[in-house]
Amino acid sequence: MALSLLFLVTILSMMITPSISDTNSFIFGGCSRLKSSPGSNYETSVNSILSSLVNSATFTTYSNFTVPGTTASETVYGIFQCRGDINNDQCSSCVQRAVSQLGTLCFETYGGALQLEGCFVKYDNVKFIGVEDKTEVVKKCGPSIGLTSDARDDVLAYLESSDGVYKTFRTTSSGDFSGAAQCTGDLSSSECQDCVSDAIQRLRSECGGSPWGDIYLAKCYARYSEGGLHSRRGNDDENHNDDEIEKTLAILIGLIAAVALIIVFLSFLSKLCEKQRGAK
Ligand SMILES: *[C@@H]1O[C@H](CO)[C@@H](O)[C@H](O)[C@H]1NC(C)=O
Repeated sequence: MALSLLFLVTILSMMITPSISDTNSFIFGGCSRLKSSPGSNYETSVNSILSSLVNSATFTTYSNFTVPGTTASETVYGIFQCRGDINNDQCSSCVQRAVSQLGTLCFETYGGALQLEGCFVKYDNVKFIGVEDKTEVVKKCGPSIGLTSDARDDVLAYLESSDGVYKTFRTTSSGDFSGAAQCTGDLSSSECQDCVSDAIQRLRSECGGSPWGDIYLAKCYARYSEGGLHSRRGNDDENHNDDEIEKTLAILIGLIAAVALIIVFLSFLSKLCEKQRGAK
């Protein structure tokens, strides 16, 4: 009984940890320069927006909130967008984490944005909801190895293809390559299509010779990678401390479980020996 339980724990920790660290991995974060004063109405509004976002992430993958201020510049706008292929629990835990990291990173600032692997959260006093924005926020390309690949080109072409219903999330694979593209839910289909096309053109021109690339614009992203989107993280070592901690934890839990298993097994053996000796 104890044995199978321990075994289960080991296997579970192996299974759960990768997906958790995947959706919670840090991609980027940034804050406005303008600082709000401690205890101000604005700060109260920001906190109320952030908790609304966290609450609504338990049942939906996108939402927007506005808290009006006494003047227009004191109005706070906020949105979150979860990756299209994660479930409510993952979305909710991702947004919770993003909001808590924003609280630290953008302490008392007028605006902030943070992207984790599984979700995006942004708040500001400038009305950005429903406004297309193709500012490049992050560009990461794999090593430039002069790659030419039909499979990669197929992935990008599919992600970019216009079918009139483009909305928020699309993923595909071809051969060894997979890719994903996503917009925030406040864009219309045509704005989303336009934003994703822009990101993909940048992937082609800037990461063209690489086995993987990520382009994050302010309201959308496009990514592709050889061998699965989450399997090539050995190539970039920025901002993966959380991952490392989680990996270390998983290994530790595995080790403890293994040691416990051995102890249980040994005590079982010694009891068996005693019994046999007693039987003689
Ligand atoms: C913002 O949220 C409101 C209320 O949930 C919704 O009706 C509206 O469509 C949203 N606007 C955008 C641009 O997503």
